[in-house]
Amino acid sequence: MTDIDPRGERAAALRRLALVYMTTALGLFLLMGLLGLLMRLDQAGLFVLPPLQFYQVMTLHGGGMIAMALLGAMGGLANALSMAISLSPRLLWAAYVVYLAGVALFVIGTLIGGFAAGWTMLPPLPFDPSHEWPLWAAVVSCIAYLLIGVGFLLFCLNVLYAARRAFGGLGGALGWPYLFSAGKNQASPPPPPMVLAATAVSIDGVLTVAAGALLLMAMLAQAAGLVGSLDALLAKNFMFFFGHMTANLTIYLAAGLVYATLPVYVGRAWKASWPVVLAFNVLVVGVILPYPHHLYQDFVQPLGMQIVGQVGSYAAGLPVILVTVTGGLTLIYRSGMRWSVPSILIAWGLWGWVFGGIGALLDSTIAVNQVMHNTLWVPAHFHTYYLLGAVAFVWAYFYHLTGELSGRHDRFASKIAAWMYGLGGLGFVLTLFLSGAAGVPRRYAEHLPEWQIFAKVGTPFVIALGLGIGWLAVEMFARLGIAWRNAAAHSA
Ligand code: HEM
Repeated sequence: MTDIDPRGERAAALRRLALVYMTTALGLFLLMGLLGLLMRLDQAGLFVLPPLQFYQVMTLHGGGMIAMALLGAMGGLANALSMAISLSPRLLWAAYVVYLAGVALFVIGTLIGGFAAGWTMLPPLPFDPSHEWPLWAAVVSCIAYLLIGVGFLLFCLNVLYAARRAFGGLGGALGWPYLFSAGKNQASPPPPPMVLAATAVSIDGVLTVAAGALLLMAMLAQAAGLVGSLDALLAKNFMFFFGHMTANLTIYLAAGLVYATLPVYVGRAWKASWPVVLAFNVLVVGVILPYPHHLYQDFVQPLGMQIVGQVGSYAAGLPVILVTVTGGLTLIYRSGMRWSVPSILIAWGLWGWVFGGIGALLDSTIAVNQVMHNTLWVPAHFHTYYLLGAVAFVWAYFYHLTGELSGRHDRFASKIAAWMYGLGGLGFVLTLFLSGAAGVPRRYAEHLPEWQIFAKVGTPFVIALGLGIGWLAVEMFARLGIAWRNAAAHSA
């Protein structure tokens, strides 16, 4: 760990990168959030979009939001990790450029090309000639996903290389000497929790991108006429391996940011205990198992895979959720935690992660899925652990970092804004859950009048959430300006 220098040039470069990643993510969130509001207004019958436009908006919103959350989590962690491992800023810049090119192509494919096959773009839908978008729009969207995948891959390789160097191999970065001595090997203490999180995610990230790239290249070969047709079931398995895993891994990356931020506000260190090390090791295998729960309704899927989906859904995330949430709550308990914007957002995030996780577990139970599978319950659970979970963790870290760099403390109004984000998000996701429980289908461009009440009630909450994050965004951008001016004055 000789090249770790928290005040050195490399650390400064990583900090700049983190700010660029997270600023881009925040900008994307605000734009994609407006599209989300537009869809909810449509579903409330207050601003009705033509169906094709609704699906264009839905596709861009879904893909754009998943991409922005991953970008923000990668950026934040790149800086947080600089205390323990030494990432290459050059490789992170390369990842950023490739990733952003992918996002830009996706915007072109959906907004200009009219691609509207949903963020999951399942074959044969993208290239089906009966659809209204041209072939090029589907091709551009596939290339976009490929580039986003390559950007993520570069990040993962960067982490794995640095973690291996710092801890004498991947086993060391996963805390094996400590784990296999049942926590008794005091000579090799485990890596900090955020290193464990980043290493576990990066190992699976490589597999995820490999699966996605295989499928996307096959799809592009089909578009070029080199392949006649793709096996739809196999393609769906690959797409969900890629899509579900990418979305899931984002949450664990963002959890790494909680390990870096919460201790500052509770005044207690968060060390990796034996259960934490075990949980992240279980995660490496466990996170691969649940994706078949997306295929319960595909009766041709082998039965064994359905059982893996059910068992894996319960086994995979639970250990990490338990150790992170109980660890976080234990850290907060009687600590006299400073209620500031980051700690408020983290408190919301811990709640959202658990509540959304329970919603997910229910829906991944085959008997429940038979009834709930295509209802708004599905977007309800993932919006909960994203909007009020992973994404809240990213904003918490971003706010914390801009505060540190500008020397600015939060004001009363900032705390109100953080509560508005949480309460607005809560109202929004509850209306999605209630719609789902009432059987309202997901991905419907037009909602029957009797369904619209849920979106009508939800819309003011979305606006409150937007005002909350809008306020925090203005503040964070202003803090960045101060930090930039301070740095310029310092170097003059
Ligand atoms: C600003 C708050 C947000 C609002 C108002 C919002 C609203 C919506 C709405 C109305 C839908 C369509 C639901 C349906 O009928 O199936 C949707 C879908 C979706 N949203 Fe959001 N959303 C928000 C934030 C997020 C976040 C933070 C993420 C992820 C990081 C996200 C990811 C998605 C995805 C993946 C879909 C599914 C798209 C598809 O089915 O192809 N959203 N959202």
